[in-house]
Amino acid sequence: MCGIVAYVGQKNAYPILINGLKRLEYRGYDSAGIAVANDNLTVIKKKGKVAELLKVTQKIDPHGTSGIGHTRWATHGAPNDVNAHPHSSRDGKIALVHNGIIENCDTLRKALIKLGHVFVSETDTEVLVHLIQEYKTRYRVPLEESVRLALEKVVGAYAIVVIDQDEPQKIVVARKASPLVIGLGNDEFFVASDATPLIEHTKAVVYLQDEEIAVLEPGKKLAIKSFQNEPQKPSIVELDMKLEELEKGGFPHFMLKEIHQQPETIADCMRGRLNAKEAWTRLGGLEPYLDRMAKANRLIITGCGTSWHAGLIGEYLIEGLARIPVEVEYASELRYRNPVINSGDVVVALSQSGETADTLAAIQHVKEKGALIYGIVNVVGSSIARVTDAGSYIHAGPEIGVASTKAFTAQLTLLSLMAIQLAKAKGTLHHAYYQELIRELSEIPNKVRNILAKDEVIKDIAETIKDASNALYLGRGYNFPVALEGALKLKEISYIHAEGYPAAEMKHGPIALIDENMPVIVLATNMSAYDKIVSNVQEVKARKGMVISIISEGDRQIKELSDYSIEIPKTIEPLTPLLSVVPLQLLSYHVAVMRGCNVDQPRNLAKSVTVE
Ligand code: G6P
Repeated sequence: MCGIVAYVGQKNAYPILINGLKRLEYRGYDSAGIAVANDNLTVIKKKGKVAELLKVTQKIDPHGTSGIGHTRWATHGAPNDVNAHPHSSRDGKIALVHNGIIENCDTLRKALIKLGHVFVSETDTEVLVHLIQEYKTRYRVPLEESVRLALEKVVGAYAIVVIDQDEPQKIVVARKASPLVIGLGNDEFFVASDATPLIEHTKAVVYLQDEEIAVLEPGKKLAIKSFQNEPQKPSIVELDMKLEELEKGGFPHFMLKEIHQQPETIADCMRGRLNAKEAWTRLGGLEPYLDRMAKANRLIITGCGTSWHAGLIGEYLIEGLARIPVEVEYASELRYRNPVINSGDVVVALSQSGETADTLAAIQHVKEKGALIYGIVNVVGSSIARVTDAGSYIHAGPEIGVASTKAFTAQLTLLSLMAIQLAKAKGTLHHAYYQELIRELSEIPNKVRNILAKDEVIKDIAETIKDASNALYLGRGYNFPVALEGALKLKEISYIHAEGYPAAEMKHGPIALIDENMPVIVLATNMSAYDKIVSNVQEVKARKGMVISIISEGDRQIKELSDYSIEIPKTIEPLTPLLSVVPLQLLSYHVAVMRGCNVDQPRNLAKSVTVE
């Protein structure tokens, strides 16, 4: 949540900040702002997207070789010009941008008001910048020391960047539980919430660790200290990301590009990890822990949003194939419970961004219970990737669209590889079935390509449901979590209320809602429950519901019962979700475009939820 950028060096900071904010806009777009240091500190901020800010900044064209910027996802205070970042100190000399939440801001604000401070915004961030100035003037210390002293008083999560007109060629950054990356240039430094704005400037980065403060001054070495004031050695990492990966590549939206990338991203996730000819799978990250995982009392899979849905499919896969008990729990619940977890268990944390605050907190919460913690993450070097004991990257590349698509199918690919490898280690599969699974998994990218070729058919179906107010998604077995994911995709980007249900549960409530205005999307590819699905479709039709079915190629029976059908290639049941979710992604995409919604930046949502 919220994107932060900063620059200090020899170049004009303003264009670097604006470009950086555009790259980070997927993290929040309630307001945007910049502060550039020149003779004084020019602070410009505006409600709305970076484009709104640009209308103002273009007229002013601020000049200066250091500056900070922010794109906001509102927590404290409504999205408006005043609450937008950067926030300034009482004397206007210090400006600060912040990602996170300061939990004790009310107490700090009251104490500062007693000292004569006056606040103009409703934000927690303004309190922090006033506190920094209070220490700076009271103790006459350099900026970094006043930041350190202020942070001693702060409870909460934050990544901050601070600039001071008295020392304009210096930037101070600090983090606790929110991400921050420092880019090392030629006598210059860049800062951002993630690596995406840095890649066009430098590949050498340092991921700031929790409870560290860094001082960035051109001509000097990067100086990092712990909150306890002990010098830390920066660990420089080479970024493995290409600029083209951050562009739309000819597609009108990132989401559509990412849906269409899936044949490649699924293949990338399997690369070097599966060999269909020789019939083996090998997850390098899993190998040293294979025995421990195979013998685990149970696995607890945790995550949020789409990652949680992938976790549910992981449960079906790992229990079904490897016979290891699995539980799936929302990270936001796990973090506040007192769960029974012990050293014989394995916690698997699923996260695209690797930064989701609830998932990170759930990991911290269960860490001392002795369980092995395994991360399945997309963003290389992210916080979750670093705090877990072991793990595997899904290698989906940067996902920019707020609604997750290619990361979901890459997570499913990884979970399938994991289930197959665990099953092999436990000897729970007949060799022929093991071989079939591997062969079928290797065929998935081609089969996804086949579904993507049906885009026009799906677009026509989208036309028929685009004005609906509600929609119901039904699926059984492996397709039940896909129904949840399909409903989430539709509500996230088109704002149509949608619910996913296990098909048989329909008669315990949702059936009461079905009438001729209710599209019911039925995932009907499971051969094991075929007759039951046929009955469910008939039940919907009997109530005049409009049935859109996702069926296996050649299925006449359900096709005839349905108003519309989308045929997908056949595969074996555990791998069905990798295919059945694709038409649902495209359906949501087209509906949202037809309704005029901002597909890549849906209202109120953010890609990386770094606050609770
Ligand atoms: C947000 C995003 C979702 C994502 C969820 C979990 O809600 O909009 O697309 O599924 O966070 O994020 P993670 O990065 O942990 O997978």
